[in-house]
Amino acid sequence: MTSPFSTRVILGVESSCDDTSMALLRGHKLLGQVDVAQLVHAQYGGVVPELASRAHQLHIAPILEALFEKTGLGWDDVDAIAYTRGPGLHGSLLVGSAWARSAAWARGIPLLPVHHMRAHILAHWIEHDTLAISGTSSIQSAPGLPAMGLTVSGGHTQLVRIDSPWAMEVVGTTLDDAAGEAFDKVAKWIGLPYPGGPEIDRRAASGDASAYTFSKPSVGGLDFSFSGLKTSVLNTLRKAIDRDGPLVDADIDNVCASLQKTIVEILVEQLERAAEKHGCKSIAIQGGVSANSGLRKAVLELGKKQGWSVHIPPMLCCTDNGAMIAMTGQFMAEKDQWGRLDDAPLARWPGF
Ligand code: KG4
Ligand code: ZN
Repeated sequence: MTSPFSTRVILGVESSCDDTSMALLRGHKLLGQVDVAQLVHAQYGGVVPELASRAHQLHIAPILEALFEKTGLGWDDVDAIAYTRGPGLHGSLLVGSAWARSAAWARGIPLLPVHHMRAHILAHWIEHDTLAISGTSSIQSAPGLPAMGLTVSGGHTQLVRIDSPWAMEVVGTTLDDAAGEAFDKVAKWIGLPYPGGPEIDRRAASGDASAYTFSKPSVGGLDFSFSGLKTSVLNTLRKAIDRDGPLVDADIDNVCASLQKTIVEILVEQLERAAEKHGCKSIAIQGGVSANSGLRKAVLELGKKQGWSVHIPPMLCCTDNGAMIAMTGQFMAEKDQWGRLDDAPLARWPGF
């Protein structure tokens, strides 16, 4: 393909878990994005894979129609289709990837099969007018390199050394659960709706973060562990309920504030250690949990304390989104990393 980076229009398709999202990007510039979050899972307290793939199937065509309507563009403007090849839920990936590969075949345009975790990081390279509200000051928040990235989502907690949009290395990871899972599990135990992370964030604002002390894991190096923290929360809550009776609203706010403080401290301590070890003067957070207000604040404070630049994506690029898939596609197109029509989804896709 011959279009240069700045004028190339890429359609990004994301369907790795429970968000169906499509976006159009010209160069770095986000032209529009349409997403549907699947509410069907709330009643089960977690993502039900079979229901997720059915919902993707239902939403995928109407989303494209809405996106074309929103941006005033059509198929003739699209130079390539980038889609999430993995990692993720197999059935969910299958819907997006089969759709993208069929559309590419029907339209005769090339494909870019994207690694979802790499895409979360490349969200920082997206230009968007609302970026100024994210706590950073410019239209584009691409970090200076090398940067230390902290990717925190429902399935992953990773520290990633970013040397360029094409060269990244995972230098720390969770040995068990992800940070988002810890938020979601505790939320479920205390009766909050799924997904629990945003609800805990909201309730934490009215709670006392010193009301409960939860034990932090002692993990060597740059790795994380959240399963011990979950057990500590469970034991603490059981004891409190045995002693004082069922949790009332104020107790729940306090649990949320204490949990959020503990998770944020664990994440930020490791981010600081990793950036120091790798001599990075820029730090970046991304993934669903990067929407957390406590984490955003703590990372900004860390940057101020150390004199590092801080990069936080706008809210619409924190949780799973089509824009980050299209952005990754732009960089892949630059290196001629085209996909094939018979590329199967990769539910597990280790490394970058
Ligand atoms: O990146 P993402 O949308 O999907 C995955 O790839 O997993 O992340 C979803 C995770 C969920 O665990 C959700 O509870 C969490 O991000 N999350 C939050 C917040 N918003 C979303 N966690 C804490 N505070 C938030 N404000
Ligand atoms: Zn994700």
